[in-house]
Amino acid sequence: MSLENKKIFITSALPYANGSIHIGHMVGYIQADIWSRFLKMHDHDVVFVCASDAHGTPIMLSAEDLGVEPEELAAEYTRQHENDFKDFHVSFDNYHTTHSEENESLVKEIYGKLKDNDCIRTEIIEQAYDDKENMFLPDRYVRGTCPKCNEPDQYGDNCEKCGATYKPTDLIDPISAISGKTPSLKESEHYFMKLTKFNNMLKEWIETIDIHPSVKSKLQEWFDVGLRDWDISRDAPYFGFIIPGEEDKYFYVWLDAPIGYFASLKNLSDKSKLHFEEYFHDDPTTHMVHFIGKDIIYFHALFWPAVLEGAGLKKPDAIYVNGFLTVNGQKMSKSRGTFIKARTYLDHLDPEYLRYYFAYKSSSGIDDFDLDTVDFQNRINADLIGKWINIASRSSKFIRDHFENCLSEDIDDDLLEIFNNEAKIVKGLYQKRELGQSMRKIMLLADKANQYLDQEKPWIMIKDDNEKENVQKVCTNALNMFLKLTIMLKPVMPEVAKNVESFMNLSDLNWSNISDVIKDHKINDYENLLTRIREEDIERIIKK
Ligand code: MSP
Ligand code: ZN
Repeated sequence: MSLENKKIFITSALPYANGSIHIGHMVGYIQADIWSRFLKMHDHDVVFVCASDAHGTPIMLSAEDLGVEPEELAAEYTRQHENDFKDFHVSFDNYHTTHSEENESLVKEIYGKLKDNDCIRTEIIEQAYDDKENMFLPDRYVRGTCPKCNEPDQYGDNCEKCGATYKPTDLIDPISAISGKTPSLKESEHYFMKLTKFNNMLKEWIETIDIHPSVKSKLQEWFDVGLRDWDISRDAPYFGFIIPGEEDKYFYVWLDAPIGYFASLKNLSDKSKLHFEEYFHDDPTTHMVHFIGKDIIYFHALFWPAVLEGAGLKKPDAIYVNGFLTVNGQKMSKSRGTFIKARTYLDHLDPEYLRYYFAYKSSSGIDDFDLDTVDFQNRINADLIGKWINIASRSSKFIRDHFENCLSEDIDDDLLEIFNNEAKIVKGLYQKRELGQSMRKIMLLADKANQYLDQEKPWIMIKDDNEKENVQKVCTNALNMFLKLTIMLKPVMPEVAKNVESFMNLSDLNWSNISDVIKDHKINDYENLLTRIREEDIERIIKK
């Protein structure tokens, strides 16, 4: 799929604004950021947005517990998340919230179109009801014994022991997770999106977009079971947008959440030169990409495109899905010390180490991957410090001590040409989001540069006055290789790359600068660019 001359609209999943972000969340945001930075380095027209997902029952209940308004709680987490992203160098062009005017008006507009196009119906359904709290209970808030295997204390939608899925009303001895009382059954009228109407459209559409084969086969399984109409309303009390014409019925959070992508874009367009309508309507020059985790495929690849189609709007062109992160082989858990908040990591280590490690572990597929803390430490120290940074620290000191920080006029073009050619392969891997392969390729090139220095031995040549000029040339060659590698790593490690730019007296390097040759050019004194990770650093994070 060519992205040439397209206006690329990239989104990351909107994090729920009712808790802190952990490093598992960061996987998808970092992958999206790397890809977006990579495209921007090619001067593509890219806009990358996110927002917080503010609505729903959990946030309403947390706010109640804390004695604050849900708006307040959401706003606080929105700020916190924004800071976490910024400090992880995730460079959203805009960060907004689904609890916003823009979103409310877009939700109304889209819902209106869905109604006009006969995509909405109502039905009276029976649901678990908490008579003490006076509220209907979402599936997750009913607990009881699994009707299939008799395992006690299971959620109302599925059993963690035997994997059975069922309705909360099927549980044996159900209780409300909020009041602890036995729920009753109560009827209420709900709004449904007629998803079944879109079965064929969705099957065909999946074949036209950029989506990994493993995600496609997951979707196929759902098609085989058959799609069912989707309940898009919730009864009060609820934190969300009221359904037009109703007084105590709200849109379900998952209806307004993806519309939040557009709300964030709209909010940006109001303060920039961007034309919102070009992205919103079905314009062939725009290319819409969603980065999401594997647990929310159903919403993005079935519900969301059906809503867009039903409203006559542009559907996604690509859906990129990440697998789940485990820490030291375990699901993230507070009791095992494997639950690492984004902020805890940031308090102790450089964010770009984690960005590199995630890139190194990533592929275009949806496999889960592990952050093994020992492997993490070894990988960073070996690759980034031992290979990449080492090229600069080894060669720059000769340039400083013997050549007043000036690079030679004479360089070895053929040698550097090899790197330019390999960079094209690296570029292809980035385009396909094969970040792990891309990082491995870059590190092989770093090995090459180090082998070159090992062979030439400038530290021996420097003792021979006749060889002095050659030392300048060898180190200039090495620093040119280092620079090319730095540009290739820039989408992953933007801040270190910036420090390299100032060390080498250059600025704003783009991908095209990879083929430049820097000669007869004054650089600055080398200052330590990265330090090794020590065991204490990791221990402190785990302890916390
Ligand atoms: N609010 C929804 C998304 C709405 S998009 C219109 C949501 N929020 S979330 O906070 O639960 O998750 C945010 C993102 O992090 C999702 O893409 C989710 O899949 C991802 N991850 C959550 N835990 C994760 C891991 N342990 N590992 C990798 N990704 C993880 O879902
Ligand atoms: Zn069970």
